[in-house]
Amino acid sequence: MNFSELLLARESTRVYSGREVSREDMMKIVDAGRLAPSGCNAQPWKFVVVDEPEAKKKLLDAMVFGNNECAAPWADKAGAFVIVAEQRAEVKPMVLHCYNDSQRFAQADNGRASLNMCYAAAELGIGSCIIGCFDHAKMREAFGIPKDVTLRELIAFGYPEKVSEPRKKIRKPLEEVCSFNGWE
Ligand SMILES: Cc1cc2nc3c(=O)[nH]c(=O)nc-3n(C[C@H](O)[C@H](O)[C@H](O)COP(=O)(O)O)c2cc1C
Repeated sequence: MNFSELLLARESTRVYSGREVSREDMMKIVDAGRLAPSGCNAQPWKFVVVDEPEAKKKLLDAMVFGNNECAAPWADKAGAFVIVAEQRAEVKPMVLHCYNDSQRFAQADNGRASLNMCYAAAELGIGSCIIGCFDHAKMREAFGIPKDVTLRELIAFGYPEKVSEPRKKIRKPLEEVCSFNGWE
């Protein structure tokens, strides 16, 4: 698959077959995250792979809020998950001069890493879906994640129940989101 094909093949998969994703494939996926670019090459991330049944149960539970609401009620059939956690970034003095904030780029860095993982999965025929909403306190507690680490997102990975053509992308028109040589 070339890059243009991969761009269209990656989509959020929300119907999984229940088939496991091998450790070998999960390592390839996480390695793609590790290779993402980051501000000052700070690599302010840690990827916690959750692929064992007991750990998956804990993770699924941490996705349910007190009122029983869940952003990903379909997630129980995913094969594995990655918790993407933002670590403290060591940045160059110029970043601190500019923003007085060492974490200025860290959230986007974690997003870049997450997307790399989703594309790596797509290349392997593995579906993915980023999940932004979950109970952070429960997730921390379940996986012993320290308080000073910011949880950014969770990504579900797994084999789609049905292999079909990628869905048509619903996106704003290019003219609306892009201009040349000026805002208008
Ligand atoms: C930061 C972020 C958070 C997301 N959270 C959820 C979520 O909680 N539940 C869900 O079903 N999809 C979630 N998505 C998936 C988006 O809905 C999806 O990427 C978007 O609709 C575009 O569709 P596509 O990924 O199939 O191209 C999230 C995506 C991102 C990038």
